[in-house]
Amino acid sequence: MVSLYPMDQDKPILLSGIKPTGIAHIGNYFGAIKQWKDFQTVGSHQCYFMIADYHALNTVQNAGDMRDLTRELVLTYLAAGINPEKVVLFKQSDVPAHTELAWIFDTITTMPYLMRAHAFKDGEAKNKEVSVGTFNYPMLMAADILLYDAAKVPVGHDQKQHIEFARDTAEKFNRIYGDTFVVPEEFIVPDVAIVPGTDGQKMSKSYGNTIPLFSSRAELQELVMGIVTDSSSERPENVYAIHKLVKNERELDDLYEEHKGKYKALKEALVEDLDAFISPMRERYHELASDPRTIIDALEKGGQLARERANVKIEEVRRAVGVS
Ligand code: ADP
Ligand code: TRP
Repeated sequence: MVSLYPMDQDKPILLSGIKPTGIAHIGNYFGAIKQWKDFQTVGSHQCYFMIADYHALNTVQNAGDMRDLTRELVLTYLAAGINPEKVVLFKQSDVPAHTELAWIFDTITTMPYLMRAHAFKDGEAKNKEVSVGTFNYPMLMAADILLYDAAKVPVGHDQKQHIEFARDTAEKFNRIYGDTFVVPEEFIVPDVAIVPGTDGQKMSKSYGNTIPLFSSRAELQELVMGIVTDSSSERPENVYAIHKLVKNERELDDLYEEHKGKYKALKEALVEDLDAFISPMRERYHELASDPRTIIDALEKGGQLARERANVKIEEVRRAVGVS
């Protein structure tokens, strides 16, 4: 049986992950990693935090880039405060059972059902050639979650549908083969469900409107000065929406009242507050980045723990479907 868990095995399981597809931004932090850190601190769950590199293969198709982006994401988790002594931090591709389980889910899932996925529909609407991997993405994600019996999955609002797919898949498998999987719930914090970018749309790598999580002061200055503002109102809403992530609302309302209509002063204040918030993480990021063992050590231990747990579950699944 599993022997090496750094946390109490009676606690419910929580799992989440991010794809290594770019430089993390404050939307990723407030929408995802901060929630993870809070769970780590409270200690209510056994936490599994994953680098979803097999999911990233749908878009990152160069080995050097994949390695660099994976390294970058591990550093991001660690610098943002995820502690591998308290949680299982691992890379999806270190646990072969994810792809095995995804295949088994494929066999009980229909094409029309997967055609309802937002990512697939967007691709079709834009006349893109959708890869089989992208079409199948929800089944690999269901495997990520169900393999660990995760009850709770903290994510940003955009991932809601994927968690519904995982729930449906757990229920369908349980109906066909008997009770095997825990049916997971998503956990979305309403206040930060969608962090806006510098143009007011959802902050996203794909929209080029991000504020990277470890930005230098000079970068912050440039990005914040570029936030799109609507001159018809006294309060620059896009500035305020980002500002309230790093300052409490009462202090903020006083500040915005005092500088009513003075966008430049308000942006300067945002640079100041973002910099104060980011700088401890930025320092830790650079410290960690200077030691090549950091990444290897974190992933080795987490990979072993995740594999141990996943191997027990995949054996149960093999028995349930009759291939063991
Ligand atoms: P991106 O849209 O920049 O490619 P990802 O899809 O890699 O970001 O998202 C990684 C995690 O961060 C997910 O849990 C996602 O829900 C969360 N997230 C991404 N952007 C935001 C945002 N603007 N607001 C809140 N959460 C976000
Ligand atoms: N699809 C998620 C995203 O794009 C990443 C992810 C992969 C994930 N597997 C997961 C999130 C399992 C939560 C649980 O952000």
